[in-house]
This record gives sequence, C-alpha cells and structure tokens, in this order.
Amino acid sequence: MKKIIALLLALVMALAFAACGNSSPSTAADSSAAEAGGKIILGTSADYAPFEFHILDNGEDKIVGSDVALAYQIAADMGKELDIADMNFDNLLTLMAQGNCDFVIAAMEQSEERLQNASCSDPYYTDLPAMIVVKKDNLDQYKSIEDFSGKVVGAQSGTTKADIITNDMPGAVPNLMTNVNDLVNNLVYDKCDAVVLDGAVAMQYAQTNDQLAIVEAVPLGEALPYCVWVAKDDPKGLLPSINETIAKVLADGSMDSFIAEADSLADQALE
Ligand code: ARG
Repeated sequence: MKKIIALLLALVMALAFAACGNSSPSTAADSSAAEAGGKIILGTSADYAPFEFHILDNGEDKIVGSDVALAYQIAADMGKELDIADMNFDNLLTLMAQGNCDFVIAAMEQSEERLQNASCSDPYYTDLPAMIVVKKDNLDQYKSIEDFSGKVVGAQSGTTKADIITNDMPGAVPNLMTNVNDLVNNLVYDKCDAVVLDGAVAMQYAQTNDQLAIVEAVPLGEALPYCVWVAKDDPKGLLPSINETIAKVLADGSMDSFIAEADSLADQALE
C-alpha cells in the first residue's frame, strides 16, 4: 500500500513539474516580448522622407521608408506582425517608456541624453552630415555660419538638429516645431529663414521643391549613427533579435535595397 502511495505521489509530482515546464502565463507583456506570435508596435515620427513618411498607395495612406522596411524585417524575424504608431518625435522615448510602443525607429541618432531614458541597438545606418536648407533666392546671403546670426533657423523639437542651432549657430534664433512638414512650410512661406535637417532629408526637400536649396558653403560636421531604440534596459528582451536582424540586413545588402526603394518612393511623399 505504501509503495503504491509513493508511486502515485511521484506520478503527481512528475505531472506537476511537466505542467510547470509547459505553462507560460500569457500576459500582455509576454505577447509583445521576443517570442514568436502576436504583434509588435513600432513607434516612429513619419515626417522624415526617405526614412519614414506617408504616401498614398491606391488611395490608401501608408507609412513607408527605409526605417519602416527595417522594422518590418525585425518583426518578421521575430515571427510577429508589425503595427505602426505615428507620434511626435520629441515624445517617442517617453511614450515608449509608458508602453505605447515596443521599439522606436525614427532616424534617431545615438546620444548620451537619450541613453539615460532608453536603450539602443547596434547602429544600422549613418546619414550624410546635417545640412541647412534655405530659399533658393536667398542662397547668396549665406557664406559662413556667422551669416545665420539674427536669422530665424528652424529645427524639429527634440532632435540633434535643434542642438546644432543652440550650440553651433551663434546668434541664430531657434524656431522649434514638432512636425518637419510644418517646419518646411514655414520656410517656403518665409516665416523662417532656414531649416536644419539630416542630410538625406534636406536633399530630398531640395530635389522635390525647386524653391529650396542646400547651403553647401556651410558644412555642419559629422552625423552620428542611427539606432533602433527600446525601453531602458530592454525589459522585453528585444535587443538580441533586433541586433541579429541588423547584422543580417547590413551583411546581405537588404539595407541598401531598403534605402534604394525608399528613395524612389520619397518622390511620392505626402506633405
Ligand atoms: N537624426 C535626428 C535625431 O536623431 C533627427 C531625427 C528626426 N526623425 C524623424 N523621424 N522626424 O535627432
């Protein structure tokens, strides 16, 4: 009798252990962690062609760009579906910390300040240096950085371009706005004198709007690499998989094709 009870006990315990091994309580946090299945939410600021921007695809509003293509690849490699949350650039890391998205890709450079509030992946791209865009008619006025003293110079709030105005353009009057399209409209309608943008974005505007030109006489130093951002210390454990995808798309040329595709779509960018 004792033997039978002992056997039964052993069996019950074995079953209990097996059940433990299999059970993974499915909470909301788990379903967005780095396990396959479910959705993962990208946070971005889709006002930055060719990296992230809106187009009309057969009448349908779509967010595209090289960063967005990278995000789709990251989601696919995790076995997840991608959702996109379009938000203001200067709120992205805060909204991610509050759980509004799982990761951020937004042409966002590495910086000490950002690393205090979030964690980042390996670099996936380094843009051309920042550039200053002005009205073509006024291009002759700008030969050196001093020529921007007393001028109203625009940049997107919370970006490294806003820091350039404060730190490197003595006497310039900063005009910070949350949306890049508004910023460029301000320039077009002469409400500001210049706008500082990431190099590829500046060139995109100069190519598609013949009233605008880049101040090539005034270079602004090196760009820092763009990274994918996750919540501070990566509580959902996404970075290993994200870094694997980045290594893969850099090695097999996919990143180059994401960029080529984005460049050709950027001409259809919605303003
Ligand atoms: N590269 C700049 C930065 O890291 C500007 C990025 C703006 N991105 C955007 N999607 N609007 O601050």
